[in-house]
Amino acid sequence: MVDCTRRTLLAGVGAAALLPRTAWAEPAIGPSLDVLAGLSGRRFGSAIGGGHGGPLTRSFDDPAYRAIMAAECGVMTPENELKWSVLRRGGAGSFDFAPADRLLAFAEANGMAFRGHTLLWHHPQYTPEWVAKHDYGSKPASEAARLIEEHVTTVCSHYGRRILSYDVVNEAIDPETGDYRTTPLTQHLSPQEAVDLAFRAARAAAPEAELVYNDFMSWEPGSPRHVPAVLELLEGFRKRGVPVDAMGIQGHIGDPGGAKSAPFAARDERAWRRFLDAVTAMGYKLHITELDVSDKKLPAPTAERDAQVADYARAYLDCMLSYPQLGDIVLWGITDQYNWLNGLTPRSDGLPKRPTPYDDQFRAKPLRAAIADALITAARRSNI
Ligand code: XIL
Repeated sequence: MVDCTRRTLLAGVGAAALLPRTAWAEPAIGPSLDVLAGLSGRRFGSAIGGGHGGPLTRSFDDPAYRAIMAAECGVMTPENELKWSVLRRGGAGSFDFAPADRLLAFAEANGMAFRGHTLLWHHPQYTPEWVAKHDYGSKPASEAARLIEEHVTTVCSHYGRRILSYDVVNEAIDPETGDYRTTPLTQHLSPQEAVDLAFRAARAAAPEAELVYNDFMSWEPGSPRHVPAVLELLEGFRKRGVPVDAMGIQGHIGDPGGAKSAPFAARDERAWRRFLDAVTAMGYKLHITELDVSDKKLPAPTAERDAQVADYARAYLDCMLSYPQLGDIVLWGITDQYNWLNGLTPRSDGLPKRPTPYDDQFRAKPLRAAIADALITAARRSNI
C-alpha cells in the first residue's frame, strides 16, 4: 500500500510517483497539486468551461482536460455556467441550471468541490440585455431588489450543501475611478444596496456557505484607485454588518494594466502585502480564485518564456502562501490549450500564450513545478 502520510508525500516529492496518473500524463511527476496544497490545509483547483463563450469554454468537451482536472484538482470553478449570462439567458423568471449541473456532476464524481462563481457579476458588460429592458413597474427599486434576491435565493436553494463557497459579488468596483460600477440594476437601486443585498440574501439562503467578494485589484500600476476602493468596500461591509467571509483575489498576474509583464519585485511585494495585511486585519480569509500568468510581453523562445512565467508565479505564490488565511488556489484554466487570454490580450507576435501549468499538448511545464514547489515550501513552513 502506498504510504500517503504528509511526511512521506513531502519526502517523496520529485522522486517517486505516489499517485496514479492517467493517459494524458508524462512520466509521473509526483503527488497532485491538490495533495500538495492539502499539506498546508489548502485546496488546489481550476476553472473549466462547459461550452458558453470563448476558448476555455470548450475545455469540458476534451477528455484530456477533464483527466488533468480530475488528477490535479480538489476544487473546480464553472467558467460561465453560473453567471446570469448563461443561467438567466432565458430572461426574467427563467433559470437554466442544466449547464452548471453537468459540470457539478463531473466535479462530484471526481471528488472535487464546486465554487459558486458568481451570484452577481456587478458589471454592465456581463449583465444580460433583458435586465436593462425589464419592466421595473411603479416601484423600480423594489423590483430591482426582488430580482437580485430571487436570483440569489433560487441558485442557493437549488444547490444546497453541494456548493459551500460562493463568489457572491464579482468586480463591483470600477478600477479606473474606484467608484462602484453602474449596471442596469443600479439604475433603480444604489450599487451599495445591490451588493449588500446579494450577500444578505446569500447568507439567508445558504447559511453554511462561505461568502466571498471577488475582484482583480493588484499591486500593478495602471489603476491606483482599485486597491484603496476595494479596501473601503471591505471596511464598509464590516461597518454595515454585511456577511462577507473572504476576499477572492482573482490573480490574473503578469500583465499590469494589460500593458507589459513584470517581475513580482520587492517593491511590488511590499505594496501587495500592505493590501493583504489590511484585508486580513479586518478578519477576512483569502482565496486565489482565477490564477494565470500572462506572458504577453515576454520573449518569444518557449523555454525562456516558460521560465519567466514560472519564476513570477513562484514569487507571487510564496507571498500569498505566507498568509495562513489563504485557502484555495484556483487557476483560470489548467492548460494552454483552451486558454481564454489569447483572445483577450494576444501577443503582438501572434504566438499562442502560455499562461497555465500544462501546455497545449497537455504536458507539464515549469509553472507546474513552480506551483508544486511553492506548495511544498508552504507545507514545510507550517511544520508538517
Ligand atoms: C471570463 C470567461 O473566461 C469568458 O469566457 C467570458 O466571456 C467572460 O468572463 N474575471 C472573472 C471571470 O471573474 O468570470 C472571467 O471569466 C474572467 C475575469
